[in-house]
Amino acid sequence: MCGIVGYIGKREAAPLLLNGLKRLEYRGYDSAGIAVLNGEMSVLKQKGSVGNLEQLLSVSGTVMLGVTAGIAHTRWATHGDPSDRNAHPHMNVTGDIALIHNGIIENYSVLKQELSGQGYTFESDTDSEVLVHLIDRIWKGDSSLDLESAVRMALRHVEGAYGICVISSREPDRIVVARKGSPLVIGIGDGEFFIASDAAPIVEHTNKVVYLSDGEMAVVTRDHYTVKTIENVEREKLITELDFSLEKIEKGGFEHFMLKEIFEQPEVMQDVMRGRVRLNEGRVQLGGIEDYLDRLKQAKRIVICACGTSWHAGLIGEYLIEEFARIPVEVDYASEFRYRNPIVGREDVVIVISQSGETADTLAALRLAKEKGALVMGICNVVGSTIARETLCGMYTHAGPEVGVASTKAFTAQVIVLSMLALALSKGRTISHDEIALSLRELSKVPEKVSRILDLNDQIRAIAETLKDARNVLYLGRGYNFPVALEGALKLKEISYIHAEGYPAAEMKHGPIALIDEDMPVIFIATRDSTYTKVLSNIEEVRSRKGRVIAIANEGDQEISRLADHVIYIPQASGPVTPLLTVIPLQLLAYHVATLRGCNVDRPRNLAKSVTVE
Ligand code: M6R
Repeated sequence: MCGIVGYIGKREAAPLLLNGLKRLEYRGYDSAGIAVLNGEMSVLKQKGSVGNLEQLLSVSGTVMLGVTAGIAHTRWATHGDPSDRNAHPHMNVTGDIALIHNGIIENYSVLKQELSGQGYTFESDTDSEVLVHLIDRIWKGDSSLDLESAVRMALRHVEGAYGICVISSREPDRIVVARKGSPLVIGIGDGEFFIASDAAPIVEHTNKVVYLSDGEMAVVTRDHYTVKTIENVEREKLITELDFSLEKIEKGGFEHFMLKEIFEQPEVMQDVMRGRVRLNEGRVQLGGIEDYLDRLKQAKRIVICACGTSWHAGLIGEYLIEEFARIPVEVDYASEFRYRNPIVGREDVVIVISQSGETADTLAALRLAKEKGALVMGICNVVGSTIARETLCGMYTHAGPEVGVASTKAFTAQVIVLSMLALALSKGRTISHDEIALSLRELSKVPEKVSRILDLNDQIRAIAETLKDARNVLYLGRGYNFPVALEGALKLKEISYIHAEGYPAAEMKHGPIALIDEDMPVIFIATRDSTYTKVLSNIEEVRSRKGRVIAIANEGDQEISRLADHVIYIPQASGPVTPLLTVIPLQLLAYHVATLRGCNVDRPRNLAKSVTVE
C-alpha cells in the first residue's frame, strides 16, 4: 500500500528519492519521510503529501546535500493515525538504524510487549517500528553480526507481510532489503542502484530490473547487489527489461491521471487486442494460455476471484463465458474465497483478476486455489507483478501504467481480455466459426465507438453539475449492464464521496424503491437489449415517485427522451460488448462530479491504488 524508494550510487540521493516518492504517491499519501547517510543518519518526515516533505527538505534539508545513499517512504496508514511520528522511516533508540516498511507485522503487539519488557521505548503507534527495535536488539546482542544478518534474524521472528529497506550508519555503504508479501524491485543503473515498491520511480533511470520474490533479501551496494533467501541461500535472479516509458506514467496534458486514463481507452483497447484478435482468420490467438487452452476448455467449473473493479470485470466475465463457452462460472470476492474453505479441486479453473497484480486478498485466493489443485490463470495489468508470476498461465491486459486510484482503463482492458478468453473457450465447442468471427468484428469496432462517447465529455460535465450536490445516487442496469451499474456506483463513491449503490434494475422493487423521491437521482443503463422494455417500466416507476432520471441509451432512442431528465446517447452495439461502452459515460460522470465538488480524484481519501494488506 505504501510506497518505498531507495537509492545508492554516485548522484545526489535526496532529490532522486523525492522524485521517486512523487511517482509512488498513488500508493499512499498521508505522510512521507526520508533517511540518508551522511556519516551520521539524517531523517526528515512529516504528515501530509510528498509536497510537504519537499518543503520541509528545502528548509531543513541542508544536511542531506551531497549525500549519495538513502531511503524514502510515502505512507498509507494501517496502524496509527496519519501523523509526523507515525511516518516512516522509523529509527532505533540510538538513531543509527532507519527502516521503511510496507505491509503489516501481524504479531507486532507480542513483539512490542517483549521489547518494552527489555526497556525499548516506542515513538510511534505503528507495527513497523517494532521491526527496527528488533533488529537493534539482535545486533546489539552479538557484535560479530553485520546489518544483513541482524535483519535476517529479526525477520525470523516476524509474522505478516513486509517489503522493507534498512540502512545503518554503522555500515553506510549498503541498503538491506527484504520482501514477503509486499513487492520490491531493484533497478540496475550504471554504478548505481534503485529500490522501489514498483517500477514507476525506476523507469526514468533504467529499464533493467530484478523483482524480488517472497522470502528473498538483497544487499545493495554502490557496485553490486546480492540476493539470498531469508534462510541465507544465494539466489540467481533474472534481469527483466521494463517495457513502459516515462511518458506513459505522466499526465500528458490532462488535468488528472484519471481523465487521461479515461481518454486513453480507445488506444488501450487496440493494444489489448493487437496480435490477439485475428479478424481475417476469425479467431483469437492468446499466447499466454495457449498451452493450457485444452485444459481450460475441459474445466468443470470456472471460479473468478478478484476485488473491487476487477471483481466487476469478473462478473462481466461470468456472463461472457457462460453465454459463449457454456462453462459454469462463479465469481467470488477474493477476500471471501480465501477464508470460507471453498470447494475447489483439480477439475476447476480459478481465474484471478488484478490490475496491480499485488492485491493481498487476490494473491491469497490464488495461493489457496493452487494448494487445492486447481489450474490457476491470471489476468493482470502490471507485468512481472506477483500474481502474474505465481499463476500457471495468464494474459496481460496491456493497459499501460494506471496511476489514478480509480480504475478505468484497466477495467475495460480486463473486459476485453475476458471477451477474447470466452471466445477462445468456445472455439470448436459451443459456437460456430462464423459466430466467433462476428463477435470479433463487434469487438474490434469498440475503440472507435468509445472515441465517439468521449466526444460527449462536455454534455456529461453539464449533467454532472446537476448531480454534484446529491447525497445518494442509485445506478440500475440489467444483464451485461448490471455489473456496469455496480462499477458506476463504485466510481462515484470512491472519488466524490457521494453515497452510491448499484443494483440489477429488477431488484429495485424489492427494497431500493423505498428511497426514491425528488432528491434521489437514478442512473439507468437502458440500452436496447432483451430487457429494454422492462427497464423502461422501471424508469416509469422512478418517475412516478418524482425521482430524477439520467439514462444511458442507444442513439436513435426517442422513447427514452420522453421519460428521462437527461439522456446520454451511445452507439448501438451487441449485448456482450455493451459494458465496454456504457461504462465510459459513468467514468466521466464520476470524474466530473468529483472535480466539481473539489475532490482530489487521483488521490481520493483513505484509498490506495494497490491494496497489499488485508
Ligand atoms: O489491483 P487490483 O485490480 O487487484 O485492485 C482491486 C481493487 O482494489 C481496485 O479495483 C479498487 O476497487 C479500485 N480503487 C477501483 O477503482
